[in-house]
Amino acid sequence: MGSVSHPNSADGIRFKGLPLDGSWPLDEIAGLGWNVARGDTATPVATLSMDAVRANAAAMRDWCAAHDVSLAPHAKTTLSAELIEVQREHEVWGMTAALPRQVELLWQQGVSRVILANELTDAAAIRWLGSRLAGDSALELLLYADTLANVAILESAMADVPGDRPLDVLIELGHKGGRTGARTVADAVAVAEAVVAAPRLRLAGIALFEGTLGATRTPDVVDRVDVFLLELGSLLDALAGRFEVDEPIVSAGGSHFFDRVVSMLATRTQEAGARLVLRSGCYLVHDHGIYGTGSPSAAGVRDAPTFRAALNVWARVVSCPEPGLALLDAGRRDVSFDAGFPIPLERARGENRLDLEHAARVDALGDQHAFLRFERHVDIVPGDLVRLGISHPCTTFDRWDLMLVVDDHDMVVGTIRTEF
Ligand SMILES: Cc1ncc(COP(=O)(O)O)c(C=O)c1O
Repeated sequence: MGSVSHPNSADGIRFKGLPLDGSWPLDEIAGLGWNVARGDTATPVATLSMDAVRANAAAMRDWCAAHDVSLAPHAKTTLSAELIEVQREHEVWGMTAALPRQVELLWQQGVSRVILANELTDAAAIRWLGSRLAGDSALELLLYADTLANVAILESAMADVPGDRPLDVLIELGHKGGRTGARTVADAVAVAEAVVAAPRLRLAGIALFEGTLGATRTPDVVDRVDVFLLELGSLLDALAGRFEVDEPIVSAGGSHFFDRVVSMLATRTQEAGARLVLRSGCYLVHDHGIYGTGSPSAAGVRDAPTFRAALNVWARVVSCPEPGLALLDAGRRDVSFDAGFPIPLERARGENRLDLEHAARVDALGDQHAFLRFERHVDIVPGDLVRLGISHPCTTFDRWDLMLVVDDHDMVVGTIRTEF
């Protein structure tokens, strides 16, 4: 990110959304007077409200401060240097990554404390991270382990790393039917004991990800989340006195249930002399889908931070071949569909705008097309622009190398890049 070199000019052939008839230095795009709703750009085009991003970053910072919890946002949501910079300006404790290369991108950007919220079994990558840590005492890394086999690979790869700096390890607790993570507290304790016994590994804390239990705040999902968090509390108790750092880390929390993490674990963590760290990522951009309907504030949680959806994808109507059906020029290549289809928000035809929120829906996506169904009275014709909200920022961001930053009047006021 920070040190990665980008071409400093961009054109509409290489970058989706830019007009086709030119090439512009990235830092001059803001001054060109383009308006997305007026049709000055090509489509599809992804737009981001930096005002919304900043408001979300501030809301989360203030909520975390009020609840005395630390935040290491997951960088994989946006993998954008400009947006990570906004998070740094909002006083995050660290950042989270999913892969070694993401760790390095963060370090290069000046984020010194990174959680690699994943197991690592690639010996070359372990050696490389270990060497980076050995060579630079300012860098900090916490990474996961969940099985004895995983611990053995970590320890064996670290034996080849010069010096004696150990790797800081968080034991990941999982749940049945879930993703990574030891399936029982007893298994997690056994993995922790193996870490303590390994000279080049240091037991630094525990972690889980509750987001794999569901993305809706129905009472049964919230109950399961709470039970899972209680198990992490039991693991904390079971490992009392065994941690090899002064302040152990207890980490959980995406963007759906961070309030539950704090309710269930804040006091317990404090009493154990540990630090509670959230890893929420999607809060920064929010959406009109799974987070718009499933965030703590949408669920009516008292004093929960309220977020604004910052990301839209605009598409053009290319055909209306049947009554009530429009085909748009944005498809699976442009919008997420792993957690719901995009949500039509409005139609723009020059100055003429029409609210689509309850009058249209997308019910299918092709590679390059969206199928927009609309009520018969709705006025949509080929050439119209449609502003789509999305459901799940992570899987829309990775479809765009460049996004246009817009103000509240859809004027282009900047750009951001991503590094997927
Ligand atoms: C391990 C881990 N931590 C944190 C997060 C962030 O959660 P969210 O995307 O809901 O903000 C994720 C997201 O997938 C994750 O996998």
